[in-house]
Amino acid sequence: LDDRHGSTQKEIKMSNQTEARVEDLLSRSKWNNNSASTSTVSTRQIFPGASSSVVEPAAPIDKEKLSSQLRELQNSRKTTASARSMQSFREKLPAFSMREGFLKAVAANQVLVISGETGCGKTTQLPQFILEEEINSLRGADCNIICTQPRRISAISVAARVSAERGEELGEAVGYQIRLESKRSAQTRLLFCTTGVLLRRLVQEPDLIGVSHLLVDEIHERGMNEDFLIIILRDLLPRRPDLRLVLMSATINAELFSMYFGDAPVMHIPGFTFPVAELFLEDVLEKTRYRINSERDNFAGSSRRKRFSSVKSDPLSDVFEDIDITKEYGNYSSSTRQSLEAWSAAELDLSLVENTIEYICRYEAEGAILVFLTGWDEISKLLDKIKGNNFLGSPNRFLVLPLHGSMPTVNQREIFDRPPANMRKIVLATNIAESSITIDDVVYVIDCGKAKETSYDALNKLACLLPSWISKASAHQRRGRAGRVQPGFCYRLYPKIIHDAMPQFQLPEILRTPLQELCLTIKSLQLGAVSSFLAKSLQPPDPLSVKNAIELLKTIGALDDMEELTSLGRHLCTLPLDPNIGKMLLMGSVFQCLDPVLTIAAALAYRNPFVLPIDRKEEADAVKRSFAGDSCSDHIALVKAFVAWKDAKRSGRERTFCWESFLSPMTLKMMDDMRNQFFDLLSDIGFVSKTAGVKAYNRYGNDLEMVCAVLCAGLYPNVVQCKRRGKRTAFYTKDVGKVDIHPSSVNAFVNQFPLPFLVYSEKVKTASIYVRDSTNISDYALLLFGGSLSPSKTGEGIEMLGGYLHFSAPKRTIELIQKLRGELDKLLQKK
Ligand code: CDP
Ligand code: MG
Repeated sequence: LDDRHGSTQKEIKMSNQTEARVEDLLSRSKWNNNSASTSTVSTRQIFPGASSSVVEPAAPIDKEKLSSQLRELQNSRKTTASARSMQSFREKLPAFSMREGFLKAVAANQVLVISGETGCGKTTQLPQFILEEEINSLRGADCNIICTQPRRISAISVAARVSAERGEELGEAVGYQIRLESKRSAQTRLLFCTTGVLLRRLVQEPDLIGVSHLLVDEIHERGMNEDFLIIILRDLLPRRPDLRLVLMSATINAELFSMYFGDAPVMHIPGFTFPVAELFLEDVLEKTRYRINSERDNFAGSSRRKRFSSVKSDPLSDVFEDIDITKEYGNYSSSTRQSLEAWSAAELDLSLVENTIEYICRYEAEGAILVFLTGWDEISKLLDKIKGNNFLGSPNRFLVLPLHGSMPTVNQREIFDRPPANMRKIVLATNIAESSITIDDVVYVIDCGKAKETSYDALNKLACLLPSWISKASAHQRRGRAGRVQPGFCYRLYPKIIHDAMPQFQLPEILRTPLQELCLTIKSLQLGAVSSFLAKSLQPPDPLSVKNAIELLKTIGALDDMEELTSLGRHLCTLPLDPNIGKMLLMGSVFQCLDPVLTIAAALAYRNPFVLPIDRKEEADAVKRSFAGDSCSDHIALVKAFVAWKDAKRSGRERTFCWESFLSPMTLKMMDDMRNQFFDLLSDIGFVSKTAGVKAYNRYGNDLEMVCAVLCAGLYPNVVQCKRRGKRTAFYTKDVGKVDIHPSSVNAFVNQFPLPFLVYSEKVKTASIYVRDSTNISDYALLLFGGSLSPSKTGEGIEMLGGYLHFSAPKRTIELIQKLRGELDKLLQKK
């Protein structure tokens, strides 16, 4: 069931006899049996880390003996030199002075809210204090602490840190568990996991039996999972009076959470940060120009001049000439205001970031630089730019490190540790470095002011993930990252007027995302009617969003008319993915065209690898059309491009190929990783066998009609009807009426489509409503694969398709189609 777990146990070295004895006792303990029983509830591997090695009934164990041995073990480890130096580091953290008060408060209150400046030691210290205390008080045998993290990378990095501080190997007393990966053992007493993993665990163990302490971290971020979890916990607490709950937050709005839990006590960890000078774009430009001008006087005609004069010729400089004079938004001329708005919507100018880094490296004192960017492609572009720019001569003078939520965790320590002497550390990060990960030696923060954010327009059912301005609270957090060890500087690459216009706080995620995945989880946790459950939320979502989500789940056949899970719905619950993407993957494996479907699903879940160069748009469109051939499908173009990229990579032509084909190598790489992850997910729920590999589920992978039909299963109800209007074709959707095909689509210039329908990935609303990435499909594909799988009750083929298709066929044909659907439904029931 779980060979990963086996290997984890093997990795753990048994260094002395005590450990061997403890291990022996633990293997018979109640806690260990608990984790075994969770994995026998279902043959599927819901908890990748749950132990399956212990299935025989537990021999009675001597808890007292076990607890005293755990204490012995804990104390014996504190003597090594590295443990001592880590201990003195720990003692300097603000959290340390609060240790006793914190432990008393945990003992005395079922719920406790902790707020504290980022970096004060909440995540690494507070769970550890509980662990030490429980073991010292001889309660080690019964203690089982869980601490949730919103992101995978922080769960791993914190677990690694805490084990190191305890002088242990990761996976002993302290472990982690994230989707598809875990490092834990029978000895594990403190587990860091993602919030998603805990939510899935609740499906099997609604009362969290066996868990003694639960710490929910980063609640101030107001992520959807955390907001959702606390509703469940508030209901759970009366049933589990012995469970202790600690909510941890940066110094933002802690009172809100206290109120939610009936005025639970709030404890504040006072922190100290050095002052951080803040510069807005106008100041940054002025400062860098001053230096540059004086340098120009000295080295007239040097190549440096060229680089910096490019800043001057930037369209922005006109705006800032104006700003220098007024500094008040109201006084700007209307043309300035327009260019500000245009600039505000435009992509970040990476040369501005590069120039600022260069300026700091050349003229400012030593200290690490932390750059906040919006996503992986910006990080990788800037990484390339910096590496190609020898602005300080030797590359040995820089240590440039990317930091991104879905990055593999190689070279973790490099991010936290001081760089070698004479080397400047430059970390290029997303907003993950805002509060989850603290890099102590940062002196300079460069903040682009944006973060990727999902937004959802319930009326038009439009969702998108786009960079948008952060909140004042986030901007403040980012600035604070520069003052950990000495006074610092925050270079904000946006003008003060933008800052003034930022909202105080970011809208909670639950209010700005589509809710279908959440609704499925609510159903699988058997929490009753979705809308009444969500009404108990800290800030309840718009009822229209809830209604849309339920409707969608019914339309795709995950819920039946009574809002109960169907067999398809039950499978979708176990896949931590958007239900439409999940359905596409399930169908891709059942209908044997998994390889292309994995590629399409990865692009949908991540992003489209085709780049859109503004200046070479026509060339780029032509390349994409050549990939599509005569398929009338952006999705098929994508599949072909991915295959061609793999070939190019194998023959060492990756760079030229991507450049000539207008493809982003970083996105393709990420998609490749995601394909593997999706395949693992499918194997976890028993739809594919990992050892057989993708090829075993790809008999019809080259049959484009089959691929498009499965695509229709996944993208439904995103359907457009193509209607001939004289020489032109007009496009209609059921929910918003007339739409247009996005100009970047391979279908943008098709006059007459061979087939009557299109399915599409998303709608966007700009001047008009456009559908992006579409595929032309037949009415048969729609009839067989669109919508719910269960045969409709009325026996009318039309019924299943929500009024899209007026299909008049002999009754027998419709019956046949319904039989086919019925068989598919049975197949899913059996899986
Ligand atoms: O959670 P909070 O922001 O309050 O702080 P923390 O993450 O517990 O970090 C406390 C200290 O440990 C900081 O100075 C971090 O730089 C350091 N730390 C580390 O060196 N390595 C890690 N993997 C995590 C934290
Ligand atoms: Mg933290």
